[in-house]
Amino acid sequence: MPESITFGTGTVQYHYKARLTDLKDIVFKEHCVIVTDSTVASLYPELESMYPCIVIPSGEEHKKLKTINIIIEQLLEYKAHRKTVLLGIGGGMITDITGFAASVYMRGMRFGFVPTTLLGMVDASIGGKNGVNFGLQKNLVGTIQQPQFILFDTDFLSTLPALEWSNGFAEIIKYGCIFDAHMFETLQKHQLEYYHYNHPVLDTLIHKCAGWKNKTIQEDEQEKGLRKLLNFGHTAGHAIETLYNLSHGQAISLGMLLACKVSEAVTGLDSEVYYQLANLLEQYKLPSALTLHPDKLMDILAMDKKRNGNEVDYIVLNKIGSASIQTIPFDVIRTAIENFPHAGNH
Ligand SMILES: NC(=O)c1ccc[n+]([C@@H]2O[C@H](COP(=O)([O-])OP(=O)(O)OC[C@H]3O[C@@H](n4cnc5c(N)ncnc54)[C@H](O)[C@@H]3O)[C@@H](O)[C@H]2O)c1
Repeated sequence: MPESITFGTGTVQYHYKARLTDLKDIVFKEHCVIVTDSTVASLYPELESMYPCIVIPSGEEHKKLKTINIIIEQLLEYKAHRKTVLLGIGGGMITDITGFAASVYMRGMRFGFVPTTLLGMVDASIGGKNGVNFGLQKNLVGTIQQPQFILFDTDFLSTLPALEWSNGFAEIIKYGCIFDAHMFETLQKHQLEYYHYNHPVLDTLIHKCAGWKNKTIQEDEQEKGLRKLLNFGHTAGHAIETLYNLSHGQAISLGMLLACKVSEAVTGLDSEVYYQLANLLEQYKLPSALTLHPDKLMDILAMDKKRNGNEVDYIVLNKIGSASIQTIPFDVIRTAIENFPHAGNH
């Protein structure tokens, strides 16, 4: 039985531990169109025999308005109407762009997701934020609208490259840091490979992470307060991602470590936590040190949406499993960046 959760913008059915073939029971005889990317389409050719498919090139650089135009043109060709169900089958790039296209086509059509990356399963497909990038600005244009359903099929992860596994674990570790000390401890006891080959354990972990995100969004769908906690590690992380050639998960890992250093100054966080987190990130093949350039990073942080004069809203840890949002002076972040361990020694 699916789990059903109601948010301000709609009710979502969560089909955990499901298989792609269950789709036919969910959408029954509805008119459906799939949106997927070229990598997923070539790895899973069966998709194209299930429903009409719109295949867009893979890669974050295609998460833009031009691709929305392409999707809309093809929806018209497939004679899609408001009752058509648009199925986003892919990573976070696909679920973000599908949700946005579905929210604006004919002022809103139905849509559902089948996330195929770990990051998609624990984070990107959940919460109703859909959108595209504009120029250098990530997710500048978008909507908040819930999908009708999300189907979780961990079989897709068998083809996922190692880096994408680590990217997913960066967000899982984030949930441990901000909400769940027990999950943090469980992760400490294992290595990435343990989850790789143990689908029942992975199913449970995905369910738990989705639960944390859903609980947060049920309380604060429009990101007025609590939902902001999910940005732990992301303020500096996004700046690091912009400046250095790192994946999102790698950049967020460094952002979370930097946030620990900031937290030591702001909340008196035990300095041991920093070392525990650095070790955990290494266990999941994520970086724990980088030679940062304070001036360049501060220039990017100065443009942050959350900036207010010389201060910025920042997510800090009180202890593992507990976070809060605080307005802090930029100087505190600068000091943390200046003292951040260089690559090769922490
Ligand atoms: N809406 C939200 O709340 C939210 C939250 C977090 C991230 N995001 C967005 O999610 C995106 C990142 O998601 P992502 O990491 O899944 O990126 P992605 O969708 O770009 O996928 C990463 C790569 O993995 C490939 N891939 C997907 N499934 C695969 C599979 N089963 N086997 C092999 N390869 C596969 C993709 O083709 C791509 O090359 C970003 O655009 C980010 O902004 C959104």
